[in-house]
Amino acid sequence: MTRTRLDAHIAALDAPEGLKTVLTVVAATCADISKVVAGGALAGALGASGQINVQDEEQKKLDVMTNDMLTEALLASPAVAGVASEEMDEVQPASNPAGEYLVLFDPLDGSSNIDINAPVGTIVSVLKSATATPTEADFMQSGRHQVAALYAVYGPQTMLVLTTGAGVKGFTLSNDGDWILTHDEIAISPDTKEFAINMSNLRHWAEPVQTYVGDLLKGEEGPRAKNFNMRWVAAMVADVHRILMRGGVFLYPWDRREPNKPGKLRLMYEGNPMAFLVEQAGGKATTDGRQAILDVQPEHLHQRIPVALGSANEIDAYAGV
Ligand code: F6P
Repeated sequence: MTRTRLDAHIAALDAPEGLKTVLTVVAATCADISKVVAGGALAGALGASGQINVQDEEQKKLDVMTNDMLTEALLASPAVAGVASEEMDEVQPASNPAGEYLVLFDPLDGSSNIDINAPVGTIVSVLKSATATPTEADFMQSGRHQVAALYAVYGPQTMLVLTTGAGVKGFTLSNDGDWILTHDEIAISPDTKEFAINMSNLRHWAEPVQTYVGDLLKGEEGPRAKNFNMRWVAAMVADVHRILMRGGVFLYPWDRREPNKPGKLRLMYEGNPMAFLVEQAGGKATTDGRQAILDVQPEHLHQRIPVALGSANEIDAYAGV
């Protein structure tokens, strides 16, 4: 069997050379991150860093290490105009005179999973830059403007799942360190019996979300007339990966805990790249079952949004806020 490697796939893309360079750098760095993640305690990678990020969250050592790895690799690439990340207060211009791309990332999604040896991931969004000296305003493009989105999931296998706007492909990291195409034309089934939501927040949700989930829980005897199953990995990458593999919906709605925050997840480096991948795989990615995440006009870098994404027919049945 001939195996397609990610570098051959990137080389064959109908895309500018600069974008190919960005994707190559990100893929190589994700392969390096996978080694550090797999090293765990042996790589000195577990535990807290002692620092707090711009979101007021305690950073894990791996958050800091992986953020440094991606930032360093990308800023050194001549195609990059600037980077932004969950772990950095502000956008960072690259000082590359020919830089054309803006790269936004969550370097280690689901970091509460690190110390318990459960899946974590890296999420990346790529936008075109209007200038080689970008400021935050240049990053404020809706998700529809993304030219590529990908995630790497560090689980039992390390996989990289990529879209450049022509479908979604999945690559598995081989023992030799090569990304090999293993999942061609990933498609999300339109119907599902599986949902993912943090049920412990039930009492904080708005009425329509409580009603929707309540109906799912009633199973065959309820208005939906089928039994649903629930899964929650607590790492968006892993929950979205499951949905790309076998369908389902992932919900992180607005809730009353911090009413002035429109949700927990971040638009620019979580919602947008995942929405691009999900739509390219035939699913739907919305804030509330109706408003497409990709059409949300960002107002600031660390903006939060409610998220409801996955199997198209089930997202249609969801009415969030
Ligand atoms: O980035 C935020 C995140 O870690 C997601 O990856 C994950 O889906 C969610 O938070 C988990 O939230 P909770 O703490 O409510 O389980």
